Amino acid sequence: MECFSCHSADFKTNDFLVPELSEGYFGGGNKPLNEEGKVMPTPNLTPDKATGIGNWSEEKFVKALKSGIKDGEAALRYPMKPYPELTDKEAAAIYKYLMSIPSISNKVERNLTPQ
Ligand code: HEC
Repeated sequence: MECFSCHSADFKTNDFLVPELSEGYFGGGNKPLNEEGKVMPTPNLTPDKATGIGNWSEEKFVKALKSGIKDGEAALRYPMKPYPELTDKEAAAIYKYLMSIPSISNKVERNLTPQ
């Protein structure tokens, strides 16, 4: 589903044939733009507990991915879109995959300006 293309280091260093070889695979920090042309740095989705999603439960991940709600708040802003078409099982499979890849310690400063 190309999650890695936004959630790795940079579009320029992504490897679309062998995604795992992309620089900073799932470590976040790539800089897609929102609808106003402002940078929306991508979060780290590796199992790193301090800077990634290592402390997220499967339930929290599935809910955020499908509905865009995290801890009761709207959490996914453009260009990250919720994926309501995924079944719980599919979303949980993505979570399990992400928990199985190497951790990368990379603290990403988010753009938290309201949209
Ligand atoms: C077009 C680029 C893009 C794609 C493709 C994309 N994301 Fe994102 N994602 C983002 C951005 C940007 C954010 C941060 C949004 C914000 O700050 O509101 C984000 C946020 C998230 C978050 C919230 C993390 C946190 O710490 O709050 C999760 C979880 C996530 N994405 C999972 C995924 C998954 C799984 C896929 C593939 C099914 C995916 N993303 C595909 C750009 C993308």
